[in-house]
Amino acid sequence: MRLSLRFILPLGIALAAIAYAVVPLVDRLALQWFVRDLDDRSAIIARGLNERLVELLRDPAGGSIVGLFERTVRQERVFAIGLCTPQGTLAYASSRFPSQVDCARALALTDDHMVALAEGPLHVEVTPVKSGSARLGSLVVMHDMSFVERRSDESRMYIVYLFAGIVAVVALITVIIAELSWRGWVAGFKALLSGAGSTREDGTTRVPELRPIEADLKALVRDLETERSTRDDSHTVWAPEALRRILREDLKGDEILIVSNREPYLHVRREGNVIDIQRPASGLVTALEPVMRACSGTWIAHGAGSADRDAVDQYDRVMVPPDKPAYRIRRVWLSKEEEQGYYYGFANEGLWPLCHIAHARPVFRAEDWEQYKAVNRRFADVVVDEARSEDPIVLVQDYHFALAPRMIRERLPLATIITFWHIPWPNPEVFGILPWREEVLEGMLGSSILGFHTQFHCNNFFDTVDRLLEARVDRETFTISYGGEPTEVRRYPISIEWPPAALVNQPPVEDCRRRVRERLNLPADALLGVGVDRLDYTKGILERFLAVEHLLETKPQWLGRYSFLQIAAPSRSSLDEYQNLEHRVRAAAQRINGRFGRPGYQPILLLLEHHTAEQVYEIYRAAELCYVSSLHDGMNLVAKEFVAAREDEQGVLLLSQFTGAARELVEALIVNPYDIQQCAAAMDVALSMHPEEQRARMRAMRHLVQEFNVYRWAGRMLIDAARMRHRRRVLSRVRSTRLAPTGTQG
Ligand code: G6P
Repeated sequence: MRLSLRFILPLGIALAAIAYAVVPLVDRLALQWFVRDLDDRSAIIARGLNERLVELLRDPAGGSIVGLFERTVRQERVFAIGLCTPQGTLAYASSRFPSQVDCARALALTDDHMVALAEGPLHVEVTPVKSGSARLGSLVVMHDMSFVERRSDESRMYIVYLFAGIVAVVALITVIIAELSWRGWVAGFKALLSGAGSTREDGTTRVPELRPIEADLKALVRDLETERSTRDDSHTVWAPEALRRILREDLKGDEILIVSNREPYLHVRREGNVIDIQRPASGLVTALEPVMRACSGTWIAHGAGSADRDAVDQYDRVMVPPDKPAYRIRRVWLSKEEEQGYYYGFANEGLWPLCHIAHARPVFRAEDWEQYKAVNRRFADVVVDEARSEDPIVLVQDYHFALAPRMIRERLPLATIITFWHIPWPNPEVFGILPWREEVLEGMLGSSILGFHTQFHCNNFFDTVDRLLEARVDRETFTISYGGEPTEVRRYPISIEWPPAALVNQPPVEDCRRRVRERLNLPADALLGVGVDRLDYTKGILERFLAVEHLLETKPQWLGRYSFLQIAAPSRSSLDEYQNLEHRVRAAAQRINGRFGRPGYQPILLLLEHHTAEQVYEIYRAAELCYVSSLHDGMNLVAKEFVAAREDEQGVLLLSQFTGAARELVEALIVNPYDIQQCAAAMDVALSMHPEEQRARMRAMRHLVQEFNVYRWAGRMLIDAARMRHRRRVLSRVRSTRLAPTGTQG
């Protein structure tokens, strides 16, 4: 009823306003019609009397003019008749002729012919009485107009009734339609929520109005279902068990293969022939390693460690993690030329700068492209080699393998290929400069599912394909169809494991603070900011240092009290761009330390070396603030790690607005890393922030990272894969039943 009222009230008000405006209009119109009628009537009466009047005026003995007038006024509505002489005096008149209207006044009336008297309104018409061309006087015919008022009252009433009637009928129809539509929408919503879809069995559409939101609603339902079915009952967060359950129940134990360039464990030879096991600094590895621990399966990656070959079996496989083997790495060996062309060349001098807006110019070389194709082909072959079934789930990782999905699809058409692009996707103009842009897109569209961190990157990808390929891009269902199977393009914001393994053996925060300060030769009460990165030009390390410098310049109260520790793992160091960066970073640190440092105090502490996850977590826990200043970053997991490390709910995160993480961790101090003044001011705010505010912000961020952890990220992709596989199986069953020969009928 409330819903109906929402329609009826405005309708009623609008119609009442129209009626209010229409009534005076109708009144005026009716009056004009009546006056015109009375004009005609008076003319007829005058014409009828003219001849007789001429006779009587010539021969008064022939009869009484007044008598003639009295007989005439007996006609309906005729009020009085009078005859004026050519000189303008009233010569004869019927008895009721009003004394207020003399001949002069009657003759002076022009347009509306109306006189208002106490007795009521009169219509007065003056017509000449003629004999041939001689004018003998003027006949004044008066009609009683009080009936006009009566009629106009009546019509006013009819109009009100009419509009009231219209309101009632329209309201009734509206109520019925609103009620029926409402019921239809509710039924439609229910059908969508229960997974029935908007199309009935006979092919007709249930509620066409719901079509535009059908895909969104289904996605939401799926998310909720996923969450409900995978949450551990005793915990409220996604846990490894949830992934195992998906594998067991939804994927029925199907095998999982991961393809990435970087391997999760490297065997590295140190002096004295000692072999170390290293976990590389890589967001991809940080995210996927815990997933693989939960899922088992095979991780196919480039064997890049100096002692990798010594650690594998005859099939180039090694079980990891070393202390508690749960899955295996299948190492792929690359020659120096392959690594140079595919990894350093096309992937890191071409695609990496192409996808990041960090003002480094991409370099494209035909030789690199050839190596890239060849190495993608080699990895695709290894996938086929490792697959134990014809339809494995293959998780292809990142920009190193844009071509592999289609190559795998050609060899294993039934595989479910989920490709995740860990870095940003640029807009079509930027991507358009890649000489082999179509090939790269075609390669990626061999995937069943293609994931990006943010919707923004998905949209850029849709735009790019729309612009560059002859493909069907359906943004409503998030799918792209390009020859063969469609590819679903979706947003899966990556995250970290919760709780992080590196946190398990951490001493209390107070101990971490003390130990880190002792190691860095800092006083116990020194304030510490940290930056943790690979040494990469996309991370904004120089801009970060400039912000520290500006802070010390403008807020000297921090001088001597505040130091910024930058740890940066060397990365891709054989490339010029990275070597230059290292020089510039060292020089900037030196310059700022030269400017503000003094014995026992250095504003910037620079450690360009690899740190273990445990060491990094200890540093996170020791810091007052963590500054992530990426100039562009797909997600950035350092931000999430810092939050995860702070069980004490203290510490402030400064986060670049150009990271995917900034869309989730909104309680961080979000900054533009290019705006040095703003970043210095934010650092000042962070250093002075009240512990209660720190707690409130940190608590909110911790909730988010806990809930949206990496198990959820992987779980959502696997659930989507399971749904796809289920649909494909059902469809192929339906097809085979339809096509199956039906005995004698053949
Ligand atoms: C980024 C990329 C990863 C890569 C990581 C480390 O996070 O998305 O694919 O593994 O950087 O870079 P590296 O070249 O050392 O593997």
